[in-house]
Amino acid sequence: MTQTVTGPVGGAGAADWSAVSDLLTGDIQSAETSRIAVFGLGYVGTVTAACFAGLGHQVTGIDTNPDKVAQLERGDSPVLEPGVEELLASGLGLGRVAATVDIDQAVADSDLALVCVGTPSLPNGNIDLRYILAVADDIAGALRRADKKHYTIVIRSTVLPGSADKVRAVLAENGITTPDHDVHVVVNPEFLREGQGVEDFLRPPLILVGADDDSAGDRVLSLYDGIEAERQVVPTRVAELVKYANNSWHAVKVTFANEIGVVAKALDVDGVEVMRLLCRDHKLNISSAYMRPGFAWGGSCLPKDVRAVNFAAKNSDVVVPLLSALLPSNGIHTSRLIDLLLEIDRPRIGFVGLAFKPGTDDLRESAMVEVVERMSGKGFQCRIHDRELVPDELVGGNLAFIQRELPHLGQLMGDGLAELVADSDVIVVSKGSDELNGLLSSAGRGPDSANPVHVVDLVGLPDDVRDSISYHGVAW
Ligand SMILES: NC(=O)c1ccc[n+]([C@@H]2O[C@H](COP(=O)([O-])OP(=O)(O)OC[C@H]3O[C@@H](n4cnc5c(N)ncnc54)[C@H](O)[C@@H]3O)[C@@H](O)[C@H]2O)c1
Repeated sequence: MTQTVTGPVGGAGAADWSAVSDLLTGDIQSAETSRIAVFGLGYVGTVTAACFAGLGHQVTGIDTNPDKVAQLERGDSPVLEPGVEELLASGLGLGRVAATVDIDQAVADSDLALVCVGTPSLPNGNIDLRYILAVADDIAGALRRADKKHYTIVIRSTVLPGSADKVRAVLAENGITTPDHDVHVVVNPEFLREGQGVEDFLRPPLILVGADDDSAGDRVLSLYDGIEAERQVVPTRVAELVKYANNSWHAVKVTFANEIGVVAKALDVDGVEVMRLLCRDHKLNISSAYMRPGFAWGGSCLPKDVRAVNFAAKNSDVVVPLLSALLPSNGIHTSRLIDLLLEIDRPRIGFVGLAFKPGTDDLRESAMVEVVERMSGKGFQCRIHDRELVPDELVGGNLAFIQRELPHLGQLMGDGLAELVADSDVIVVSKGSDELNGLLSSAGRGPDSANPVHVVDLVGLPDDVRDSISYHGVAW
C-alpha cells in the first residue's frame, strides 16, 4: 500500500515513531525505485541511507572508513540515532541496503550519489571543502572508467554558495562535460537534528532542492515520493545559503532567549515565563513578520525600547552582545543606503516614503529622515513624496522630532508623485504603490535611455517595474 506521512510535526524533542513503523511495514513507499550511492556514513549519511532504503530505494553506502562500511553491511548503525538500526535491518532483509569501500562499484550500482561527507571549519571560519571535492574527484574517475554518461551528484552536506560550482569544476577537469555527458550537480540540504534524525527525515519542515536544471531537480524531488512536505526547487546558490540562514536563525533564537533570561533574572523577573508569553504571539513574534530583508527599522517604539532594555542590562552589569548589537547594526544598514546613493552620485534624489513604515505618518526615529538629512547636507537636491504625510498636520512628539531633525521638511515635499518621478535622477522607494509602479514602468527611462532613472528599491518592486529602470537593492 502506498501512503503519505501526514499529521502534525512533532514538537522539539517529541519523537514520533509511527512514521518509522509505517516505513518498516512498507506503508510508506516511494513511487519509483532509484539506485542511490550514499557517500559518507556519518550522522547524515547513515540516516539518509536508512530512510531512503525504507522508502523503497536501492541504497549503497560508501565511506573511506572500512569499519563503518562493515557495520552497515551487518546492519549495525555507525551512529547512535533512534530508529536507524530498525530501518537498516529491514532494508538489509529486503536486499535494499549494501555497503562498500569500492568507488567503482558504488558508482556502477547507482544513478545518483548523495554526498554526505563532513564540511568542518577551517581556522579562518571558512568550510573545508576537501572531502566534498575528493568525493567529486572519485565519482568523476569512476564515471570515466565506466564510460558512464548519465549521473546526478546531490550535495546533502552543508556547503556555502559556490560549492556546487567547485564540484562542477572538478567534473570538468576530469573531462565530464556537457554535451558528451549528462551529469548534474544538485544541492539538497539536510534539515535533520541529531537524536531525531529519522523523525526529521520523514517529517521534514521542507524538502529543498537547489538545481539549475529542471529535470535534475525533479529527479531528486521524486526520491521523496511518499513523504508529505512542502517542496521547493530553487537556484543552487539559494539552496546552499538557506541551511546557513536556518542555522544562524536557530543560533539567534537560543542566544536571544538566553539574553532575555539573564536580563530578566537581573531584574528579578521569571525569564522563562517572559519567553513563554513571547511565544504565545504568533502574529508578530513566532511568524514570518519582520523576516524579509528590507530597510532599517525605526519609529517611536523599537529604538526607544531597545535602548531601554540595553540600559537595564548595563545597569545590572549583564553583558548582552546580541541585544547591544541591534542599534549599531541598524545604523550600519542605514549607512548602506547612503553609501549606495553616493555611489550612484546623481544630483536629484526623490524619496517615496519618509515615515518609518507604510501606513503611518510617524516620522519619529525614521531611518529615512536621517538619510534625507545626510544627503541634503552633502549637497544633493532631495524631494519627498509620502502619501500619508501632511507636514502642517504633524503634532506632538512627531512634530518635535522633525523640527529637530529636518526643520525644512515643508520645502522638501514635492507637488505629487508624478512630478517627483519626472524630476528625479534617483528614486528611493520605501512606500510602494500601483501608481508608482505605473509611473516607473511607463517613464521610458531604462538604463539605455537618454535620461535613465535609478531606483533604489526597499520594498520589493514587481519584476516588470525592475526591468524598466536602472534597478538597485540594498539587502538583495
Ligand atoms: N550532524 C548533523 O546533525 C547534520 C545535520 C544537517 C547537516 N549536516 C551536514 O552534513 C554533513 C555531514 O555531517 P555528519 O555529521 O554526518 O558528518 P560525519 O563527520 O559524522 O560523517 C562524515 C563521514 O564522511 C566520511 N568520508 C570522508 N571522506 C569521504 C570520502 N571521500 N568518501 C566517502 N566517505 C567519506 C567520513 O569517514 C565520515 O564517516 C556536514 O556538512 C554537516 O554540516 C549535519
